[in-house]
Amino acid sequence: MSAVQQCLQQLQADFALSAAQLAAIIGAFLHDMEEGINGRPSSLAMLPSFLTKPAGSEKGVFLALDFGGTNVRVLLAELTGKGKYTILARHNVLLADPVKGYDYTSSSATAADLFGFLADQLALIASPDKIYLLGHTFSFPCRQTGINESFLLYWTKEIKTAGVEGQNIAELLRQALFSRSLFHIHPVVIANDTVSALLAAAYQDTYADIGSICGTGHNTCYLEPSGHIQPMYINIESGNFDKLPGNRYDTLLDKASSRPGAAMLEKRCAGRYIGELLRLVLVDMIQEKILFSGSCPPFLRNEHSLTGKDVAVLQHAADKPEQTAAWLASHSSQLISTAGDQQLLQTAAKLIAERSARLAAATYAAVLKRIDPSLDYRHTIAIDGSLYEKLPGYAAAIAAALQELLGNKSKQVKCILAKDGSGIGAAIAAATTHSCAKGTVPVTHAY
Ligand code: GLC
Repeated sequence: MSAVQQCLQQLQADFALSAAQLAAIIGAFLHDMEEGINGRPSSLAMLPSFLTKPAGSEKGVFLALDFGGTNVRVLLAELTGKGKYTILARHNVLLADPVKGYDYTSSSATAADLFGFLADQLALIASPDKIYLLGHTFSFPCRQTGINESFLLYWTKEIKTAGVEGQNIAELLRQALFSRSLFHIHPVVIANDTVSALLAAAYQDTYADIGSICGTGHNTCYLEPSGHIQPMYINIESGNFDKLPGNRYDTLLDKASSRPGAAMLEKRCAGRYIGELLRLVLVDMIQEKILFSGSCPPFLRNEHSLTGKDVAVLQHAADKPEQTAAWLASHSSQLISTAGDQQLLQTAAKLIAERSARLAAATYAAVLKRIDPSLDYRHTIAIDGSLYEKLPGYAAAIAAALQELLGNKSKQVKCILAKDGSGIGAAIAAATTHSCAKGTVPVTHAY
């Protein structure tokens, strides 16, 4: 067997997940859900959202702020009822932009810097002569004590902004709006992005009861039927699930991360990490002199120099050697690659992407098992995020894994892309929490 073939075999052993491994993951995930929801120590925080299913008839104009970790999106949406809406205005901006010379995600940025920046983005689309109710999607683990009181437990996705952990996020935003005299913007609700994505889907589809993000981060929420008063969306914080098989690349990535030992599922699944996993695999092959004749091109020397986008490009290039060559040329003009090199790159990207999709599917199967053990009912899983939307083969791999895990009952389950769900869902959240849900109203003094 050639060195390349041996390496391909090893990659398969490192990243492929058998049906038996997925079944064990489902069992362990279910166990951790049960422990978490009962307040016992668990890798799954199972955080209450205080939100429940929308009626679908909510109406009005609402402002939404979607803070995910890579971008900030603000939008003005008009909900017209019957599950329909129109986006009246929108504005997207990066949280860190080396070209413009700012980074609100680093430890040198303060809470006031970050939330001031968020307030400034809202001011761009909120006209000063109207009052707006604002729904805020904040895509991090928070302990909520009410619909508009939410304390950040810890940062994830390698964000490090100082002075935010432990704080009431709603209060930080209120202060920033106040200090800019933006009295016409009234934050009324804060929700995790999984919950917003699910709300966006449930506004149109009564079967939607699981929401998930497969993007920079990875997480899932669902409608827990056994709420004390009424069913409630629970943010599982599934990215922190930790009973998973791993390989030496997972260990390396974890050790170099800002929170070693935490976010183990996210580190195998999410866009923030899968590029780095690919880089670690490639560097290892180079050190073993199997790839690029053992010479490491400069673009592979720095941590996180590859991103989820690189995984997507290489995955897309499967069976198209010229695309892999073009990808290499765009990173390093001097690099000469062989057909074997190209096959290794494509296979590594494909296996990493497939493992991510299969792990996500296993957690969805676990949630389904909790809410409907014999799958007697229909369910829609609403998924937002760049991997689900843009990574070639990703959505299909989730669907295939669900079919493998649920058998013919998988026809009860539909996965949909909840595009922009985390933004529009915040507007819907604002509508559901406002009893007369009328949207913009004349200016009065707000604070
Ligand atoms: C991270 C956050 C989680 C969020 C997910 C997707 O896992 O901890 O709250 O939902 O990223 O953005």
